[in-house]
Amino acid sequence: MEGEIVVGLDVGTTKVAAVVGEINEDGITILGVGSVPCKGLKKGIVSNIDWTTRAIKDAVEAAQTMAGVEIRTVYAGVAGQHIRSQSSDGVAAIAGGEVTRADVERALEGARAIPVDADRQILHVLPREYIVDAQDGIRDPIGMSGVRLGAKVNLITAATNAVQNVIRCAERCGLTVADVVLEPVASAEAVLCEDEKEIGVAVVDIGGGTTDILLYVDGGIAHASVLPVGGNNITSDIAAGLRTPMAEADRLKRLAGCALGRMVGDDEEIEVPGVGGHPPRRAPRRVLSDIIEPRVEEIFAAVRKRIEDTGLLDQLSAGVVLTGGSVLLEGTSELAEEILGMPVRIGFPTAVKGITQLVNGPHYATGVGLLKFGAQAMRDAAARDGARTQSQTRIKPIDTRQPITVAPPAADEGPKSSKIWDWIKAAF
Ligand SMILES: Nc1ncnc2c1ncn2[C@@H]1O[C@H](COP(=O)(O)OP(=O)(O)OP(=O)(O)O)[C@@H](O)[C@H]1O
Ligand SMILES: [Mg+2]
Repeated sequence: MEGEIVVGLDVGTTKVAAVVGEINEDGITILGVGSVPCKGLKKGIVSNIDWTTRAIKDAVEAAQTMAGVEIRTVYAGVAGQHIRSQSSDGVAAIAGGEVTRADVERALEGARAIPVDADRQILHVLPREYIVDAQDGIRDPIGMSGVRLGAKVNLITAATNAVQNVIRCAERCGLTVADVVLEPVASAEAVLCEDEKEIGVAVVDIGGGTTDILLYVDGGIAHASVLPVGGNNITSDIAAGLRTPMAEADRLKRLAGCALGRMVGDDEEIEVPGVGGHPPRRAPRRVLSDIIEPRVEEIFAAVRKRIEDTGLLDQLSAGVVLTGGSVLLEGTSELAEEILGMPVRIGFPTAVKGITQLVNGPHYATGVGLLKFGAQAMRDAAARDGARTQSQTRIKPIDTRQPITVAPPAADEGPKSSKIWDWIKAAF
């Protein structure tokens, strides 16, 4: 697999990001990224094919120019409230007295053979544990002796039309979609370490239109779901509350927003641009956090309720890893800790090399995770049947050992420190 190129395509509610990487013996090297704003999705689902196609085309073109490869195949992300997760079981006779890869595949086939509504499709069959005869709790059964192999899995299903629309947009750009991956599964791949998966952890990806939840228990995915709320709701609240255009509301949120009112000083002020020809006016910064805090509280209360409903809350010993662009809002992890009652950390994409500064933000967790998922799928395919599934063409060599200076990605204005706040005040 050495030198193979893999591409993750994150089709998000606010932006499309294409991330290009090269598979190396010891991991993945980031070669290029293209990220462009996109208004073609609503709450994680494609609602305008033309706009989405245009954004994919632009993002892929930017990524391939930077990476020096012609992109033909991508691993694409999918999200939206239509996602469901349910458990299932499968069994297979162990043909030769010792479990082989083929036995495992037959047990998993059995687990996916359950009735699914005609308008839905199975996206992932995620093994939680295997049982060989009477012995349960087995992670990797290959090579074990026995006569009967059982598999307990988590099935992730999605609305077929939502998945097909993502594929159609990519195909209209001349791309082949190698696989469609649930976005929180990808994000988790980018930000979690193995220890967290083992002792139990929740990944919460708060993007623009959705909040995705993924629970890992005993090293396996135990639950996945998507809430139809995200950073865009915060922006709309600011626009309505301060009577300012959406674009200005988003800018104010990024530069001066805070999810926890008590972190804001009494003397801090912001300048609010007027709408419809009205002049700008000054307002206490506290006004902004008074608008933001209840919405962020509401998001975390919904996350807590969803986790409680799974019955897995007390199995998440590693707490919560927050990711997605909206967690860049100051005070978010502090508020999350209070409401969720668990330790919280912000998850940045890890374990990649190359031009990592390009993807060093929580809003790139899904793109990098898709890349990692794709690389693993290609390694598995190569191990299984020697297949080389990828078909990108390198058009110019790139020396990733040379540091490359790039402007920070547009969506990332970073966590707001008091230094930045001083700068805003000075600028006004
Ligand atoms: N520095 C920042 N402070 C606060 N919010 C931010 C910051 N940077 C980005 N955001 C918010 O993050 C959101 C976008 O995050 P992200 O890029 O993860 O979403 P997406 O992947 O496009 O959407 P989704 O995953 O919901 O489909 C927007 O609402 C944006 O306003
Ligand atoms: Mg996203």
